[in-house]
Amino acid sequence: MLVDLLAGTAYNPAAMPAPVPTILVFDSGLGGLTVFSEVLKARPDARYLYAADDAAFPYGRLSEESLVARVLAVMERLVDLYDPDLVVIACNTASTLVLPHLRERFPIPFVGTVPAIKPAAQNTQSGLVTVLATPGTVARDYTRDLVQAYAAGCRVNLVGSTMLAKYAEAELEGRPVPDADLAAELRPCFVEEGEGRTDVVVLACTHYPLLLPRLRTLAPWPVTWIDPAPAIAKRVVHLIGGPVPGHEEGEDEAIAVFTAGTGIGAPLRRALLARGLLRTAIEAIPLSL
Ligand code: DGL
Repeated sequence: MLVDLLAGTAYNPAAMPAPVPTILVFDSGLGGLTVFSEVLKARPDARYLYAADDAAFPYGRLSEESLVARVLAVMERLVDLYDPDLVVIACNTASTLVLPHLRERFPIPFVGTVPAIKPAAQNTQSGLVTVLATPGTVARDYTRDLVQAYAAGCRVNLVGSTMLAKYAEAELEGRPVPDADLAAELRPCFVEEGEGRTDVVVLACTHYPLLLPRLRTLAPWPVTWIDPAPAIAKRVVHLIGGPVPGHEEGEDEAIAVFTAGTGIGAPLRRALLARGLLRTAIEAIPLSL
C-alpha cells in the first residue's frame, strides 16, 4: 500500500484533485470565438488557449493540399509550445478536410466542427434547407457525403460565401460592414419553390454566428438558424468530463495567440477581453512555412 508521507495516511488516488485540462481552440481567425464561448461555459475551470491562424486567413481560399500542410505545421508549433490535453478545431473549412491527418499525427483528442446537416434535416418543415459556408467547405466531399447520409429527403442549397468571414472579422476589428453588403451575401440562402421556401439555414462557418443578430434582421423571412457551437461544447464534456469539483472558476488567464505577427488593435482587444481572453500572444508563423 502507498502511504502519503506527509500525512502518514493511506494514499487514495480518488481523493487527489484531478488536474484541470488545457484546451486549445483553433481557427483561421476570430470565428472560433463563437465555439470558445460555449466551451468556456461548459468547462469554466479549464486552462484555455485560443489560436487564430491569421497569417493564413481566410482558409476558404486555400487549396486542399496547402490547407492540410498549413494546419499540420501550425499545430506542430502550438502543441510544442502549449501541450494541450484536447484541441477543438473550431473551423468547418479545416475540420472537413484535416481532422484525419491531425488524428494520425498527434496523440491528442481532436474535436471538429462540421456542417450541422443532420439537425437541419430534423428541423425543416418545408424540406428546403440552406448550408451557408466558405467556398472550401461547400466544395468538400465530406460535406456532400453528410448531405447524402442525413438529408437525402431535403432539397439542400449549398451556398459558398467569399465575403462573410471577412465581414465578421471586420466587425470585431471595429470596421462596420454596411447592411447592403451583408444582404448581398445572404440573398442566395433564401429560396422559394412552389408553395415552400427555405426555413432552416445552417451556419457552417464559425465566423457567421458573430453576425447573427444582423443576419436575422436582414433575412427576407424568418428561418431557424443552426449554430453548432453548443453541440461542440457538449462533445468536449463528453470526452473529458465536466468541471473538476472545487475548480468551478478558472484560475489561469485565457490566452489568445495570433500567427500573423502584426499585433491587434484596440477594438479587437476589447472584444477578446469581453469573451474572457485576458492575454494575447504573438507567435509569428508565416504562411510560406
Ligand atoms: N471559421 C472558418 C470556418 O468555420 C473559416 C473562415 C475562413 O478562414 O475561410 O469555416
